[in-house]
Amino acid sequence: MAKIAFLGAGMMGQPIIRNFLRGGHAVTVYNRTLDKARPLEALGAVLAPTPKEAATGADVIISSLTNDDASKVTWNGPDGALQAEPKPGAYAIEMSTVSLTWVSELNELAKARGLHFLDCPVAGRPDVAEAGQLKVFAGGSAADVDALRPVLDAISKSVMHVGGVGRGITFKLIYNVMGAIQVAACAEGMQACEAAGIDIAVAAEGFSTGATGSPHVARHSRYMAENSHEDPVQFSGSMRIKDMAYGIQLIEDAGGQSVIGHAAKQVFEQMVELGMGDLNDSELIDTLRVVHKKDRA
Ligand SMILES: NC(=O)c1ccc[n+]([C@@H]2O[C@H](COP(=O)([O-])OP(=O)(O)OC[C@H]3O[C@@H](n4cnc5c(N)ncnc54)[C@H](OP(=O)(O)O)[C@@H]3O)[C@@H](O)[C@H]2O)c1
Repeated sequence: MAKIAFLGAGMMGQPIIRNFLRGGHAVTVYNRTLDKARPLEALGAVLAPTPKEAATGADVIISSLTNDDASKVTWNGPDGALQAEPKPGAYAIEMSTVSLTWVSELNELAKARGLHFLDCPVAGRPDVAEAGQLKVFAGGSAADVDALRPVLDAISKSVMHVGGVGRGITFKLIYNVMGAIQVAACAEGMQACEAAGIDIAVAAEGFSTGATGSPHVARHSRYMAENSHEDPVQFSGSMRIKDMAYGIQLIEDAGGQSVIGHAAKQVFEQMVELGMGDLNDSELIDTLRVVHKKDRA
């Protein structure tokens, strides 16, 4: 069993940590707001006041943090995890959805400290994380991914080795741009049905069971029809914008275009402008209702 340092006990971090503990791993947890991680102590986690202290003596250091800024300070700040004396052969894993630029830089920093680095972003919301059913998109050498499978198996239903370092986050960001487009398209279709006088419960059923019915559409159209969104919030409109900004940048840096990505990002930005950015992404339909009302006034 591995000695894991886990950095970031947020909505994703907490269920992931619980599954590592259930799997028999020893977990030391750092969270910026330490009190939020207290409930994990009763399950056997040890809390550390700094990332550096959490990482000391760990076989595997994993982070699940909001964005580039949070990851940079937690790994590379004055008390960051990279300041810890690395255990020979230890691994550093970035599990957050951050930019490819930062992942590439972090890889170099980790390697310079003698750590094996992998990017292992995940797909699945907190309820999926709780069930230990995440999908891991791994970037790193085949040997490193294989060595870490027993650890990653404790939190996931599949570990997809996408390629070398950086390929995991590259795939995840493109995947999330596609996902956000689907959620935006679902909100647009549902609101359009409502405006055109179709019962939106019927619309949700039709969209979910027809060729339009991706898991995103099936899940979100039901929340929209029932007007009962996830409580507590599992993935907000603002988080969608963060992922899309990194993803669109990556697509354009690779020479591609993201016309539909930009359009979807724009509607999530309207959500933020209306003060709804911290709500679930499925509540995008309410933004479209407000915009529709304004346009008709
Ligand atoms: N939620 C989902 O459905 C989902 C699914 C797949 C992937 N993800 C990705 O997983 C990562 C974590 O998401 P989450 O849903 O767990 O978010 P969250 O609940 O908001 O947790 C964010 C974590 O980052 C920490 N943090 C934020 N800013 C920081 C800073 N400046 N310095 C140090 N720590 C900071 C927070 O600490 P505090 O507690 O002190 O605020 C918390 O531990 C994100 O990259 C997200 O995109 C999320």
